[in-house]
Amino acid sequence: MSNIKVPYLDLQAQYQGIKPEIDAAIARVLESCQFILGPEVAAFEKEFAEYCGAEECVALNSGTSALHLALLAASIGPGDEVITVPFTFVASVAAILYANARPVLVDIDPRSFTMDPGAIEAAITPRTKAILPVHLYGQTADMDAIMEIARKRGLVVIEDAAQAHGAKYKGRSAGSIGDIACFSFYPGKNLGAYGEGGAITTNNPQYAGTIRMLRDWGQDHKYHHQLRGYNYRMDAFQGAILRVKLRHLERWTEARRAIVRRYNELLAECDVQTPVEMPWGRHVYHVYTIRTEDRDGLHAALASDGIQTGIHYPIPVHLQPAYADLGYGPGAFPNAEKTAAEVLSLPLYPELSSRAIEDVVGSLKRALDRKPQTTVR
Ligand SMILES: Cc1ncc(COP(=O)(O)O)c(C=O)c1O
Repeated sequence: MSNIKVPYLDLQAQYQGIKPEIDAAIARVLESCQFILGPEVAAFEKEFAEYCGAEECVALNSGTSALHLALLAASIGPGDEVITVPFTFVASVAAILYANARPVLVDIDPRSFTMDPGAIEAAITPRTKAILPVHLYGQTADMDAIMEIARKRGLVVIEDAAQAHGAKYKGRSAGSIGDIACFSFYPGKNLGAYGEGGAITTNNPQYAGTIRMLRDWGQDHKYHHQLRGYNYRMDAFQGAILRVKLRHLERWTEARRAIVRRYNELLAECDVQTPVEMPWGRHVYHVYTIRTEDRDGLHAALASDGIQTGIHYPIPVHLQPAYADLGYGPGAFPNAEKTAAEVLSLPLYPELSSRAIEDVVGSLKRALDRKPQTTVR
């Protein structure tokens, strides 16, 4: 799109707001010449664990690596099954295959967009080892219901919290509820690095110890390889940058939530469905997603007004060509499939101005006025 009036995301605006702190953090790493792991990453681990209310944090080079190592630490491998959802970013499912286990998918609840706990029992087999709920868009899955099934059946729970930094479930933070949680710090995330980044959090020191070794070639000390590991280490620039940004995260989250309240107010009378904040916690709105039957029409109309929107995600994982061999076809997960056809993510970042919010809503209303709509309920 050439004439962007309201971008979907504006990382420049955020950087300008914290530039002196970021520049100083980068200079500190340059001066130290300690570029991989080191004191900045160790300090970030401590600070992020505390933020999540977890005992341990291990910093990694991506959220995908976090999922991969969480599964390996939980001893998941060939012949094992892991239950997750088809309506997610592909990494949640891909990581299960990295561990040579089998992803078993269950449908989502269409209100929260997260795993439907009522669908889990029927998917459990003697080979099931873990449940991997995804806290999609920044809202946690219904964790009490999931944990209860997992405890009863002796299953490990791995939270995919890649989009949910600071999200709460009944007062507890994402990252402290399941057995292990996985975060992404991809630049556009609520807590985003200036490159790739990820982490696990856990209260289980054994899991943390294993993941610490696995991220660094399985070494317990230099050139002594106890496990067949990986190069999944976080670099020091990302650690230093994330420490700065973590200090601003609560303020940014509250700014996101204020923007969402404004969007909800302005869209209340419109023929679109605004996101549902479930009563169980605090949504951190990584993504603000409306539902409409004319998603593609609205997407195009907003684009022609210079307003960037996103579609998270247009095709559920089970219908992606790369995952056809999982054995699910069209119709397997009706809620995921209908949702994928109807979701549209509006611009949302803490610095989004009131004027820009009004521009987005104005454009949306004009498009809706041009076309008779049916609200999705
Ligand atoms: C739900 C979900 N899981 C996993 C990931 C993977 O994280 P990363 O891109 O840091 O590997 C992402 C990030 O894009 C995500 O949104």
